[in-house]
Amino acid sequence: MPNARDLLDWYDRHRRTLPWRAGVGEVMDPYRVWLSEIMLQQTTVTAVIPYYERFLTRFPNVQALAAAESEAVMQAWAGLGYYARARNLHACAQAVAALGDFPRTLEGLRTLPGIGPYTAAAIGAIAFGIPVVPIDGNVERVASRMFAITTPLPEAKPQIAAAAAQLGDDDAAKGRPSDFAQALFDLGASLCSPTQPACGLCPWRGACKAQKLGIQAELPHKSPKAARPLRHGVHFCLVDSDGQVLLRRRPPKGLYGGMSELPGTPWREQAWALHEALDHAPMRAPWREAGVVEHGLTHFELHISVRVAEVGRIQAEGFLCARNALAEAALPSVMRKCLKVALG
Ligand code: ADE
Repeated sequence: MPNARDLLDWYDRHRRTLPWRAGVGEVMDPYRVWLSEIMLQQTTVTAVIPYYERFLTRFPNVQALAAAESEAVMQAWAGLGYYARARNLHACAQAVAALGDFPRTLEGLRTLPGIGPYTAAAIGAIAFGIPVVPIDGNVERVASRMFAITTPLPEAKPQIAAAAAQLGDDDAAKGRPSDFAQALFDLGASLCSPTQPACGLCPWRGACKAQKLGIQAELPHKSPKAARPLRHGVHFCLVDSDGQVLLRRRPPKGLYGGMSELPGTPWREQAWALHEALDHAPMRAPWREAGVVEHGLTHFELHISVRVAEVGRIQAEGFLCARNALAEAALPSVMRKCLKVALG
């Protein structure tokens, strides 16, 4: 068995400085921990940092976020993707503000919108010192290697969860649950990396079964993924003589709910013939082809053909957005790509 002390000693020397982390000996603010964890479910630490800092400046505490307009929250989130998370984030802030504070138990945290077992464990361990090991991709990798678990994911999840719990079942880990969880994240994000683990520097190399077998770089095994279906759409970028662009609002529920977009067709598996697509154009105009945008979403791959036209005055459903205000509009990143193709 590896020794939690060795990992914690390593962490004390090599811990990353991250904006949501308290300094040594400082108490963590559950609002910051929660916010960072929700954002980190979207993308990498490096990509999250600027969003996190802007978000925190705009909404410095859970009360401020709860009281904000949903439009402002969507806007601050735009670019991180998966907008259901932003809606849940806002709903969660309102629930916490109504309670007065974050619940301090895993069960209590789990009752909040957008907080599943992982996030509850991460907040519980990091902010409240509950001795639990949150299992994200990094921790899965470390645990599967440590115990040489060769069952592929996702079938291996229960086995890996038991292994990860075992890693935390140690007096040194239980004495510092917050640091232990973050040490596991850091180990997985640095030395115990997916393809080229730096075992020579690892504080746990002596105990790592996969390393003894020489199979560490292959683990965890993953079951082959079903191919993502391809969907097609056509979107129209209409610009008036003042340089304003026509946008419309997506329905409040569903993918990118409540966000803005260029008008266009639905997204479907069958490609669109031009005459069919033009039925979804906002008005008659001299449409020209600007290019194609490819975008990967969780459940499908999207190919969008972008058409652009200039007209003197726009008379169509939707709202006008000045070109220099597009950066602040609540646009999903796929729409930013379309605008880039259309407007250069
Ligand atoms: N990944 C998930 N949570 C993290 C955290 N709190 N710090 C660093 N990486 C993380």
